[in-house]
Amino acid sequence: MLPRPGNPIIAALDTSDLAVAQSWARVLTPHVGLLKLGLAFFTAHGPEGVRAVTRVPVFLDLKLHDIPNTVAGAVAAVLPLRAAMLTLHAAGGTAMIRAAREAAGAAGADRPKLLAVTVLTSLSPEALAETGVVDSPPEQVLRLARLALAAGADGLVCSPQEVALLRREFGAEPLLVVPGIRPQGSDAADQARTLTPQAAVAAGADWLVVGRPITGAADPASAAAAIAASLASGAA
Ligand code: C5P
Repeated sequence: MLPRPGNPIIAALDTSDLAVAQSWARVLTPHVGLLKLGLAFFTAHGPEGVRAVTRVPVFLDLKLHDIPNTVAGAVAAVLPLRAAMLTLHAAGGTAMIRAAREAAGAAGADRPKLLAVTVLTSLSPEALAETGVVDSPPEQVLRLARLALAAGADGLVCSPQEVALLRREFGAEPLLVVPGIRPQGSDAADQARTLTPQAAVAAGADWLVVGRPITGAADPASAAAAIAASLASGAA
């Protein structure tokens, strides 16, 4: 089992602009537990871009989904970055997740924690049904979570609404990393199913992924510090 974070905030640096990512990393590093770089940034700047943003291990949110051999190759290719966490899609199946875990194992104790994305929070029940899944989103989340954890994933990326369900089902061990976080009074934007940082932690989240409430603020460092303080004080 992994140590629980002292500061559970993950700042999502959602930009493909290297200078912007560097500036966010500089001001936010003292106020958050981890920085997250995603597909837009990585597609634009690759591993060198990650190194140019920070030398501290990051959360690499690549949401890998391909045949086992290809995903294993991608995992092996990013190991030199020593990412703290790496995402892949649970829908890739047991063999894909096992292959990813095996490839990650080459880094020994320093390997990235593998987080499985179950059902994207952007998918409504109707959109999920369009893909051929007739079960409700929570049923499908549970099915994919079971598969992913049995195949060797260290944790799950889930919406705030699924945290309590997954904790009930799987206990304290799996890492639960939760986007869709909105401090009281902040703009939900395109996130439909949100919780406050405090409520998400109370439900059992280990890490909170926060993007625009921090990066869209006039003073991102103060916004991050305020969320951290609200968690430390128990305020909502
Ligand atoms: O700006 P906001 O706080 O909505 O950003 C949320 C972050 O979490 C984004 O980087 C997004 O890619 C990520 N994410 C998400 N929903 C998921 C998985 C990841 O919003 N299911």
